[in-house]
Amino acid sequence: MKPGTKKVSLAMAAAAGLAIAAALAWFFSRQSTIGLFEWHPPWRRNFILIGAAGLLPLLLALAALPRRKDPAWKPGPALAIATMAFSALAILLAGGLFAYVWSSARSVALPIPSLTLVDPAVGVPGSGGAVRISLSSDPHWGVDTSDADARTAIIKGIAAARPRRDALIILGDNVEMGMEDTSWRQETLELSSALGDLPVRSLLGNHDGLIDGQYHFEKYFAPSAQKTDSGNPFYYSMSAGPAEIVVLDLLWGAETFTRAQAAWLERTLAALPAGKQVIALSHCFLYASGADDEYGYGWYDMPSTIARVAPILERHKVALVVSGHDHDMELLKKNGVTYAVIGTMGGILDVEPTHHSPASLWFKGGVYGRLDLDVSSAGIALAFRDKDGAALREDFIPAR
Ligand SMILES: [Fe+2]
Repeated sequence: MKPGTKKVSLAMAAAAGLAIAAALAWFFSRQSTIGLFEWHPPWRRNFILIGAAGLLPLLLALAALPRRKDPAWKPGPALAIATMAFSALAILLAGGLFAYVWSSARSVALPIPSLTLVDPAVGVPGSGGAVRISLSSDPHWGVDTSDADARTAIIKGIAAARPRRDALIILGDNVEMGMEDTSWRQETLELSSALGDLPVRSLLGNHDGLIDGQYHFEKYFAPSAQKTDSGNPFYYSMSAGPAEIVVLDLLWGAETFTRAQAAWLERTLAALPAGKQVIALSHCFLYASGADDEYGYGWYDMPSTIARVAPILERHKVALVVSGHDHDMELLKKNGVTYAVIGTMGGILDVEPTHHSPASLWFKGGVYGRLDLDVSSAGIALAFRDKDGAALREDFIPAR
């Protein structure tokens, strides 16, 4: 073995470790990756395997380090060759991951279909002192299990509703896999053709964020020309006539609810005039009925969001929180805050709940539809509607 080989193997092991660490650090800086790691064991295993690929050459190099000046040490050459081989594989793996993201997951077919987007700086003004907003969530474009006919019926029903709705807000999981441009494109083409100039706004969902899907989300629904009060495209506030809307960044749970977001939320709510009606929107819910998934994780009353977000909302007397994530409809109330779940825009409907939230007032499974909010100075009127617009449950939250 040439004298420089051991040095080369050490340098290659260091490069491999750095390359894998950089790839993982970048992936985990993307929206939805931490949640994917926490909630999806197969992907957790993949990330651990990627980490191990970076660690293995380093461990081999370290094993040889104490005997590096001993030419008679027999395993030395084999260890050096193995270190170089595994280092090369790890560097290729890290390079391949980045190459995939930049060449495929970040490709966008131009021009992007034009949509009339709600601008957070302007909000949803409404007319005659009232604001009419339709909400639904989890349409999941890009997967056969979604019901495209139900999705289309909901969008067309909102466009045709009279009096005219002022905006459609989709609470995330627009697409099944956020890195697939074709799904975003299909969604915006269908929205644009059915809605005309009716303004639309979308939140990022956990599926939208996969993998680096926030790139597409920002291109299609949160262009950089639109500024938010938080400076962040995933959480911000905007006015809605007599109410204020606060959009929260909650994907799988509270893993994206950073200290900065919590401080912004406290600041924003504290600065509102007393008695202002506040509607919070998020992808992941706080309170909900639901069932365990195939990995045994509970898709109901979410301990992380309840512990970290609910106390802030309660303290500032937020009137209503509307979320998706669970594919059913539900109305709940807890500690003075009303919660609505409306993940019924087309994604495959959830199984019957096995956990019934103690906060639940009304639950409806097995039905696609939307939630209409009519906001006036008197309060917030809620109407859960099926895909054809028929009211399933109505309620009213008086202004305080
Ligand atoms: Fe979701």
